[in-house]
Amino acid sequence: MPDHSDTVALVTGAGHGIGRAIALRLAREGAAVCVLDINAEQAQETVRLLREAGHRAHCEVADITDFAAVEGAVAGAEAALGPVTLLVNNAGFTDAGDLDRIALKVWHREVEVNLNGPYHCLRAVLPGMKARGGGVIVNISSVNGVRYFGNPAYSAAKAGVINLTQAVASEYGKHGIRCNAVLPGSVRTENVSWEIRIKKDPEVFQKLARWYPLGRVAEPEDVAKAVSFLASDDAGYITGVALPVDGGLLAGMNVMIDEFILESKD
Ligand SMILES: NC(=O)c1ccc[n+]([C@@H]2O[C@H](COP(=O)([O-])OP(=O)(O)OC[C@H]3O[C@@H](n4cnc5c(N)ncnc54)[C@H](O)[C@@H]3O)[C@@H](O)[C@H]2O)c1
Repeated sequence: MPDHSDTVALVTGAGHGIGRAIALRLAREGAAVCVLDINAEQAQETVRLLREAGHRAHCEVADITDFAAVEGAVAGAEAALGPVTLLVNNAGFTDAGDLDRIALKVWHREVEVNLNGPYHCLRAVLPGMKARGGGVIVNISSVNGVRYFGNPAYSAAKAGVINLTQAVASEYGKHGIRCNAVLPGSVRTENVSWEIRIKKDPEVFQKLARWYPLGRVAEPEDVAKAVSFLASDDAGYITGVALPVDGGLLAGMNVMIDEFILESKD
């Protein structure tokens, strides 16, 4: 198990879903955790869960699209827990299906939250990490960042997050700062887009499973384990990578192979 006892982690979007799983895992492995979320009630619930389990935790309510609010949140986290040594850029969302129907203001909001938001958080923590000579950043991108699976604004923003990851890794490596991205496939959370799809089809996760070579969609904990590894000293020589945590989705066209190509089926 990675040892995060010297870690002060700032996890964005930790009020729900994958972010909450990341916060709980890092804390179990010794980290003090600042939960940053736009939703105060959800953020406080994660902090309650962390404290109930005996962990050091702090709550900051902020919208990551507001740089001044993010700077304030980082200052609040550092006053409460000490210098932030790990940033997990997890907050994100999508609820816009295709290019034909996306409203201009929805496009802007999705890029704002999914790309500019993580940039704001990086920008707020990097000067401190640089001054202290080290730090770790893990950005939650998506398989949508490297292939098109719908949600065009979200996908473009998530692709941007991968490039931003490479920029930070390249420019800040000399300051002892590592930066990597995690690319989840479908993860069983109750986020906005899954809620809509589950309403249309309660079996959506079971149906999706056949696209995944490992035969299931991910649980939030699958992503949390990858984040914990990338944040740990075991990943001390890994920077600038985009790590799929996707049960093999990007490895090949499983359903196409099953349905059209495997001659052995004849
Ligand atoms: N669930 C999936 O299938 C999946 C797949 C690939 C990538 N991801 C990525 O993983 C991350 C987490 O997804 P999730 O499914 O846990 O989502 P979620 O909706 O369950 O949780 C996201 C959290 O982020 C917070 N948030 C949203 N906008 C914010 C803002 N502007 N400022 C601060 N906080 C904000 C929300 O309040 C919420 O608590 C996102 O970046 C998402 O794009 C999810």
